[in-house]
Amino acid sequence: MFEIKKRDAAGRLCSYRTKHGTVTTPALMPVVNPHQMLLSPQELREAGAQIIITNSYIIHQDHQLREVAQKKGLHHLLNFDGPVMTDSGSFQSYLYGSRIDPVQIVEFQRDIGSDIGTICDIISSPTASFSQSQVEIKETLKRAQESIQVKKDMVLAGTIQGSIYPQLRQKCAQEMGKLDIDFHPIGGVVPLMEMQRYSDIARIIIASKKGLPPSRPVHLFGAGHPLILPLAVALGCDFFDSSAYIKYAKDERLLFSTATKKLSEIEELPCSCSVCCTYSPQDLRDMVRQERIRHIALHNLYQTFAEMKRIREAIREGSLWELVERRAVTNPYLLEAMEIVQGETQWLEKFEPISKKRAFFYTGHYSLHRPLVHRYHQRLFQRYTPPSKNIQVLPEEKKPYSKYYEKYLTSNATILISSPFGPVPMELDEMYPFSQSLFPRTLDKETREMNKRIEQQFLDHLQKIDEHKKISPKKMKRDKKSYLCTKIKKVADMQYGKGAGDALFYGDVDIVTSPRTGKIRNIYGDKKLVASMRASDGLLILGREGGQRLHKQFKFPDMRVIIDDEAIPFVQQGRNVFSKFVINASEYVRPMDEVLIVSTNDDLIGTGTCLLNRDELLSFSTGMGVKTRQGYPPSG
Ligand code: GUN
Ligand code: ZN
Repeated sequence: MFEIKKRDAAGRLCSYRTKHGTVTTPALMPVVNPHQMLLSPQELREAGAQIIITNSYIIHQDHQLREVAQKKGLHHLLNFDGPVMTDSGSFQSYLYGSRIDPVQIVEFQRDIGSDIGTICDIISSPTASFSQSQVEIKETLKRAQESIQVKKDMVLAGTIQGSIYPQLRQKCAQEMGKLDIDFHPIGGVVPLMEMQRYSDIARIIIASKKGLPPSRPVHLFGAGHPLILPLAVALGCDFFDSSAYIKYAKDERLLFSTATKKLSEIEELPCSCSVCCTYSPQDLRDMVRQERIRHIALHNLYQTFAEMKRIREAIREGSLWELVERRAVTNPYLLEAMEIVQGETQWLEKFEPISKKRAFFYTGHYSLHRPLVHRYHQRLFQRYTPPSKNIQVLPEEKKPYSKYYEKYLTSNATILISSPFGPVPMELDEMYPFSQSLFPRTLDKETREMNKRIEQQFLDHLQKIDEHKKISPKKMKRDKKSYLCTKIKKVADMQYGKGAGDALFYGDVDIVTSPRTGKIRNIYGDKKLVASMRASDGLLILGREGGQRLHKQFKFPDMRVIIDDEAIPFVQQGRNVFSKFVINASEYVRPMDEVLIVSTNDDLIGTGTCLLNRDELLSFSTGMGVKTRQGYPPSG
């Protein structure tokens, strides 16, 4: 069972249930060598391990280990009672040409009680030709099918291969996605990790994710260096394994979230793990080698888990892009990968929540390539109609703009603020992320130039809008109430789509503001609650009447999540919509969007906050899909 609990970027914080307990992802699985347990299971747990991974081929090849595993089970052999994943020996086959029976090794993993067993995939080298990789994928898929026949109730990991070719990765993922497989490693990246070819890795992850059903857990096989973790999670990886903590320790190198350092070159340890609090670098150098390696390995593991915790926390607070950008500047090859990410905003935008807990925090010009900004620009051009042909551009001063520029509220012009996000119409000033953002007082050249470019494009675009699109005549003087009326309509259009403002707010509109802050609270139409404006992000939440009005305006399936008849009575009573009851949804629905919940006949059943995008709603069979805000009683 795998379900999304929290999300940010294309990353997700999920709960994953195994026979040996539930794991919170993104999760790091330390690699345990059954021949040589450098750290005890207790030490691994204390460092943060919820799940570990070992190699079934190594166990199988050792008579003694094999016997214990077969008689008493894998968990007994490793003295670990949490979930254990096993690999198949593919990597040994790749490195040393070891011959492995692909079905037998899966049966063996099943028989010793592995929680997640891996197929014996063929690892394509980064230098493999396109056609050779194709042949290897074909064999991998055949082995996956054979493994399914024998897996019984073991979770089977079907590795995605395809060398460095995005097209092959996506195809392999699509084919794997059709099979009865529950878990997907992305394989063949170890050589790329060693060469720091992070842009290739980013391309591979993106292509694999595009091909896979979104409800399948994804494991980036052999990528345990903390440096890559934030980016890989932001692109949608859920599991990682680390042998790096041991490999680097044997090399007497210490891992940090932003670097690797040689023990011989360290004066002071910038870390407060149990090792670094107890020993100085000199103490470590003075130890006998085996002890030194053990201590460095423990430090390495602490550092890697610390990064994992930071990532999960970033997902919870909505600052994952910020973390990715901070890490990118610490390594030139990671910066290279950011270029790949920038080219994928269209795909990434589908996962990007509409609103976040935390303010938009600028870390450099990369911040302006976040999917959220891309979405804003798109919507500004597609959804915004200016209240007047007369355009006035003002510099950004204090926020919220409507307070600083209060005297312009009654102006009959369309007021645009030159913000770091590009031009922002004054009416949108309280909408996330404009008020909820932090930029340097003086912007860098790239950002200034990008803003100027978009501003010019937008002004040109506004010039092209025809008069007949209900733009108010120039002479009309506005008052405060008519400003607020314009404001709610513009926000509604940007949030829900063009036409939402007019559909929601007509007739006798009564806008109730907070006596203390002056902010809009509730909006009534003909005495019925149409919508409320949420103080934290300036977005509109639908009242009962608002849901009905939008339901009338927007054609099926726009704005909608369509549910199975079976779920209707529950939603009518205000219960949440589980994804397994979702039959279809609008392709424009984004995480945290307010949506209409309807039956297959398009009867309005409720309104709620959608937690998943359409592909996810249709793919997940566990977990919540829509958090119901209001159920509508059955109509006559
Ligand atoms: N370990 C590191 N990379 C791989 C891979 O591609 N496949 C398998 N099975 N194990 C690995
Ligand atoms: Zn340390």
